[in-house]
Amino acid sequence: MNILNTYYSQGWCQFPADPMLQGWIDASLPAIRASITAPENAHWLRYQGTWFAGVNALPNDERGAIPGGPTLSGLAVDFIHNRLNYKDLPWDRAQVSACYPGYPQPMSGETEAMHAFRRDRDAAHLDGLLKEGPERRRYLREYHGFLLGIPVTTFSAGASPFVIWEGSHKIVQAWLHKTLTGVDPTKWRDIDLTDSYQGLRREIFRSCRRVTIAPQPGEAFVMHRHCLHGMAQWESDATAGPDGRVILYFRPPVVDLKGWLTNS
Ligand SMILES: [Fe+2]
Repeated sequence: MNILNTYYSQGWCQFPADPMLQGWIDASLPAIRASITAPENAHWLRYQGTWFAGVNALPNDERGAIPGGPTLSGLAVDFIHNRLNYKDLPWDRAQVSACYPGYPQPMSGETEAMHAFRRDRDAAHLDGLLKEGPERRRYLREYHGFLLGIPVTTFSAGASPFVIWEGSHKIVQAWLHKTLTGVDPTKWRDIDLTDSYQGLRREIFRSCRRVTIAPQPGEAFVMHRHCLHGMAQWESDATAGPDGRVILYFRPPVVDLKGWLTNS
């Protein structure tokens, strides 16, 4: 099966070790480390210090370059440009996700049910469907083209790997079509999706295979924007280098919302 077919059938694909990407990582590592320790990013350290969530914490530009560094490039970027046809999409600032032994510890403000969902169900979610207000109702607030995952440290397979429910993008797309077709895209953000989303998630847990992926530096993966995904707990025998398990996520936003809904 070619890689594009793999991406569309399972909802993600992985790329082998790549000297171009490794060169970008080597040049960017000082800025990646600095983003984790910067005082202005301290609020991203959560779950009693076991996860630095680091959303948009990397100071890269629209070429994916750290100031003075190389343009983001390599096999995964070629795939995004040439096979997914996102040639002109500017890179967003990357999320710097650094995880440490013991994740997830309970966090203040979290109920036991919320903690259990994070620990036992990998905090499974769809990107862009955000919880709001004291009632934690869910609305579509962000629209990403895809997710590009770039590990930058070595870690063992049990060190809070990325989790994907394979094929879930097809179930999510059917649900989105049913929910949003005929509604003007400017109104999508007003639809309370909380209840039907919970049913959707249960259906995915029942019917899709849960896979964990733990690529190493130089490798990368691309996930379909509609996949249910999350992050596993840190197994007691898992190991990582002194920086912890650090993965960067690029999720550039798109402006064509109908395309976000209907493109394959
Ligand atoms: Fe996510």
